[in-house]
Amino acid sequence: MTLLDVRDLVVRFRTADGIIYAVNGVTFELEAGETLGLVGESGCGKSVTNLAIMRLLPKPAGRIEGGQVLFDGLDVLAMAEPEVRDLRGKEIAMIFQDPMTSLNPVYRIGEQIAEAIRAHEKTDRRTAKRRAVELLRQVEAPGGLHGDEMLGAARRPLEASARARVARVHSVCGLSLGRQRSLS
Ligand SMILES: Nc1ncnc2c1ncn2[C@@H]1O[C@H](COP(=O)(O)OP(=O)(O)O)[C@@H](O)[C@H]1O
Ligand SMILES: [Mg+2]
Repeated sequence: MTLLDVRDLVVRFRTADGIIYAVNGVTFELEAGETLGLVGESGCGKSVTNLAIMRLLPKPAGRIEGGQVLFDGLDVLAMAEPEVRDLRGKEIAMIFQDPMTSLNPVYRIGEQIAEAIRAHEKTDRRTAKRRAVELLRQVEAPGGLHGDEMLGAARRPLEASARARVARVHSVCGLSLGRQRSLS
């Protein structure tokens, strides 16, 4: 069965300067295990398409004005907010471009990732921490080796590429195991 089915997606922003026609009828399908790259010039609507699928459009300006998003047969656009929250992070995750938007530089990386795991799964702190370290090792992020690194200036700041790898783990660590494929 198709895992992600996006049909005729239309997204608009209402701004003081008028309506912005950000996404105008986007259609694509994705099977489980398949990878799809959205390519296009800056501002063509790649990010907005994905934010709409995740139901993360900035409110109230951003609105989905047409189309359908089916994830595993579920109508994402018709879901109530608690349902979407459950889906997000557990079944669908988004890796943001800026690692600092999702991670707090003053907390230890391993702890933040363990916390994210525990947000979706009933598991004790120690097990979550062990999983966090294991995931970080998979992407060879230094947080996995010592478990106490931080992103920011305190202690040992990480270099940009390590930050990006940590952010990737943080974004997908809450996914149910069946959805966790290769992180690297
Ligand atoms: N919060 C917002 N408010 C108003 N317009 C926005 C907002 N976010 C994105 N847009 C507009 O939507 C269009 C698509 O943007 P985006 O999806 O970010 O492009 P990209 O393909 O570079 O990721 C652009 O015209 C952009 O200016
Ligand atoms: Mg973008």
